[in-house]
Amino acid sequence: MPRIFSGIQPSGELHIGNWLGAVQNWVNLQRSYQSLICIVDLHAITGKYDKDTLPQRTRDMAVGLLAAGIDPDQATLFVQSHVPEHSELQWLLNSVTPLGELERMTQFKDKSQKFESVPAGLLNYPVLMAADILLYRADLVPVGEDQIQHLELTREIARKWNSEFAGGEKFFPEPHPILTEAKRITGLDGQAKMSKSLGNTIALLDGPEEIWQKLRPAKTDPARVTRKDPGNPEVCNIYHLHKYFSPPATVGAVAENCSGAKWGCLDCKRVLADNMIATLAPIRDRARQFQEAPGRVDQILAEGALGASGLASETMREVRGRMGFLPAPSRLPTGSGHPG
Ligand code: AMP
Ligand code: TRP
Repeated sequence: MPRIFSGIQPSGELHIGNWLGAVQNWVNLQRSYQSLICIVDLHAITGKYDKDTLPQRTRDMAVGLLAAGIDPDQATLFVQSHVPEHSELQWLLNSVTPLGELERMTQFKDKSQKFESVPAGLLNYPVLMAADILLYRADLVPVGEDQIQHLELTREIARKWNSEFAGGEKFFPEPHPILTEAKRITGLDGQAKMSKSLGNTIALLDGPEEIWQKLRPAKTDPARVTRKDPGNPEVCNIYHLHKYFSPPATVGAVAENCSGAKWGCLDCKRVLADNMIATLAPIRDRARQFQEAPGRVDQILAEGALGASGLASETMREVRGRMGFLPAPSRLPTGSGHPG
């Protein structure tokens, strides 16, 4: 069975961009592939972060993923820092990662501008991501479009490591992305990628009132000033969102009524809000059940970490050997009283 790996940062809330761009795919693929889904808390410390809220954000992300349909009987859901081999492999992969490649990553160039003194972790972020994937020797990585460049670098790191330490044998497979049709969902500002840090999101667990309050002021076709102006659905983000939440007949009606100036933008948004609320209601219900059973969530994450650790330690035994490290003594002395 081919193996899938993907990760998401513990921002606390999943938004509909994450869901449409990646998480829905994880849910659909978990039946046909051996799937590892990782909450990447080590990646979350590469920028400024709040250590006090990190545990809650990590749990909330687990709840969101379980509510969205990640099934712990089918997929391994776990927290990155619970499997220390991620950090270890990241360090080892630094030895085959070209600095120039790290410096030219778009995400690094964007994010580093926000710092007066750039943390080294931000530069090394893609090496940790490569370690995540290669640790499980995953074949496929379902992600949104913004991660493609990082995945290309992962393939290069795998190639270099294989040629240096595996005599060209494909010890690490070169992983390939799987994209959805919704590979880049635009935010409610109608311009930037939907992203929690930009405040232009609808959260997967938002309720009816929150959804409407966010959709109501959302940007539409900028050329449409009054209700009487015909709109151009193709340049309207609300129209594109209809494609993911409304039935095909409604999507057709939206296009027609917009370009024919029969509906105002608010009418169109109300229909979208109703369909979005109905689509997301079962996810909210499931989230509530998990929120009421935090012990169950912790248990799922513990079992996930155990499963992931088994695979990770197998890979690392091979990797350490192939990279020339002296095998560690099978039993390290414990306690304070060992001889000399
Ligand atoms: P992040 O929240 O940055 O950890 O992203 C988690 C996953 O969601 C990654 O696979 C991203 O590529 C994907 N993703 C994030 N934002 C969007 C978006 N606006 N549209 C589509 N996919 C997204
Ligand atoms: N960098 C990814 C993001 O921000 C998260 C991530 C970390 C990831 N490790 C990964 C995604 C491994 C896929 C595979 O969205």
